[in-house]
Amino acid sequence: MPVILQYPDRALLMRDLAEMVADQLIEALETQESATLVVPGGTTPGPIFDSLCAVDLDWSRVRVMLTDERWVPETSERSNTRLLRERLLVNHAAAATYVPLYADAETPEEKLPELSEALSQLMPISVMLLGMGTDMHTASIFPGADQLDLALHGNENLVAMRAPGAPEPRITLSAKVLKSAISRHIVIVGAEKREALEKARHLSPEEAPVTAILNGSIIHWAER
Ligand code: 6PG
Repeated sequence: MPVILQYPDRALLMRDLAEMVADQLIEALETQESATLVVPGGTTPGPIFDSLCAVDLDWSRVRVMLTDERWVPETSERSNTRLLRERLLVNHAAAATYVPLYADAETPEEKLPELSEALSQLMPISVMLLGMGTDMHTASIFPGADQLDLALHGNENLVAMRAPGAPEPRITLSAKVLKSAISRHIVIVGAEKREALEKARHLSPEEAPVTAILNGSIIHWAER
């Protein structure tokens, strides 16, 4: 069973979680040369990034990657990299090394080998944040996706996906990699996502991919 931490509101959640992530990065850097932080895109985590980037830790030894990326160039409003460049890789965190999950090519499949190699250099993952959709997807592991089986049960670290719930092709860390993170936090806001999470617990990973990574995760929830 995952631990569920409930917060009075979203602002407190974002602030406390940023503090927790910073502490875990500092702790990792005490015993390791470098630490790896993996974060989601989407609409939820922006305020966490705003707090986190202002923490004065040794960001020059932190490598940052996304849990998943939309296959669009950085100039697109839908680019998760763009969100990171605007809200996380600034202030003190500008010193971090960003390892993108996108490269200039028509399809994610063309760049999969090189991106997958770059990801393997970042292991182990010290701290991971994840979001969840109301359809119970996490990262870009969507119910009904064309490579769902591979992403949930395969040995690959990275999977290119197309899914009914996603307007563009995606590239996503596989469940195997998501599960390997030393600390894993799932961030959800709102009653609808909480209901989806409760429902997910009784479903299979094929129906509710988030269940694949619930064990050992800390869930952070605020109603509004
Ligand atoms: C993405 C994300 C994705 C996200 C969820 C929740 O690229 O969309 O990485 O996994 O975390 O879809 O998205 P919201 O925070 O926008 O609800």
